[in-house]
Amino acid sequence: MRCCISQAQIEARALTKTFRVPKRGSGVTGAIQHLFAPVYEDKRALDQVTFDIASGEAVACVGPNGAGKSTTVKLMVGITMPTSGSVRIEGLDPHKERITNSRKIGVVFGQRSQLWWDLPVAESLRLLGDIYEIPPDRYDQTLKTCTELLELGPLLGQASRSLSLGQRMRCDIAASLLHSPRILFLDEPTIGLDVAVKARIRQFISAMNRERGVTVVLTSHDLQDIETICQRIILMDKGAIVFDGSLLAVKRQFDRSRVVTFRLREMVPDAAARVQIALSEVAPPPVITVTGYDTVVTFDPSHSSSAAVVAKVMAELPVEDLKIEEPGIESIIRQLYDGTLKLGVAEPVT
Ligand SMILES: Nc1ncnc2c1ncn2[C@@H]1O[C@H](COP(=O)(O)OP(=O)(O)OP(=O)(O)O)[C@@H](O)[C@H]1O
Ligand SMILES: [Mg+2]
Repeated sequence: MRCCISQAQIEARALTKTFRVPKRGSGVTGAIQHLFAPVYEDKRALDQVTFDIASGEAVACVGPNGAGKSTTVKLMVGITMPTSGSVRIEGLDPHKERITNSRKIGVVFGQRSQLWWDLPVAESLRLLGDIYEIPPDRYDQTLKTCTELLELGPLLGQASRSLSLGQRMRCDIAASLLHSPRILFLDEPTIGLDVAVKARIRQFISAMNRERGVTVVLTSHDLQDIETICQRIILMDKGAIVFDGSLLAVKRQFDRSRVVTFRLREMVPDAAARVQIALSEVAPPPVITVTGYDTVVTFDPSHSSSAAVVAKVMAELPVEDLKIEEPGIESIIRQLYDGTLKLGVAEPVT
């Protein structure tokens, strides 16, 4: 189990975070009452969250709005303190030892910028380089790499406030990497960006993880981000972890269907009936639909292999081409958000 990895780079133990929030009645009366006799209530954002992340992993923190993803990231980067439990980054308490921790980590919040609003981007980056005391040759090298891969050239002379969201995000990602952090935390780095910029950012983050071994912790509602960058997902709901495992394991555990589309050389009027007979021994019975030249077979791969199903259909029909679709993480997570997929106790899968 992951929680037993002895040399975790990030270690969260029974993290609980409770916010004290004002409890106000409605309307002007409520506001006045609150002014003279304020009443507060506790709101639990995180409840006993435990996980380990090893060096070099790329982990996605996924879940519906309010699940506790950003709160978890804020605890890991030391912006806030847990109400109880603990978090350690390479053995350090990220809140108590914020300055030392900030040298190890890079942080990108999609909704906030670390660049100075009125300064040209190049100046902001230079200031950050000075703050982190980055040796000039390393600074130049990192900036050169980021400029190439994120196409920052034309942006460096512009003030941050004049950049579009996607341009600003590319500069922010460069800013977070200037000091060569070993861990990169990204809270919704592609929110609101166009398809092309999203793709570039994903490729860049993925390359940082795979080629340079930077540990990546990412929150995103964009499942394409997750599939491109991460090998592991932590699914959160209502402040708790409901699943922690490899992306592949999630697919295997929760998506029990495989879809094979057979494109036929010619129209076969009784194709559905013939496939049904050919696959009569496949259990549970596959779903067969025919549209024009396409016969689509949806079946449970845990009982019958794709190879066996394909062989039986090909022996029955004049197949010209076929396509086997991998289970989609999107449908699983959508079901989790909708509440139609009920996950039981978290089952870590390695
Ligand atoms: N500073 C705060 N004060 C009071 N409540 C807070 C505070 N920060 C977060 N919360 C509450 O904690 C819960 C978790 O919030 P969090 O921002 O971690 O969710 P999230 O999973 O990041 O959601 P989203 O997908 O919308 O970004 C929410 O109910 C939120 O209202
Ligand atoms: Mg959030």
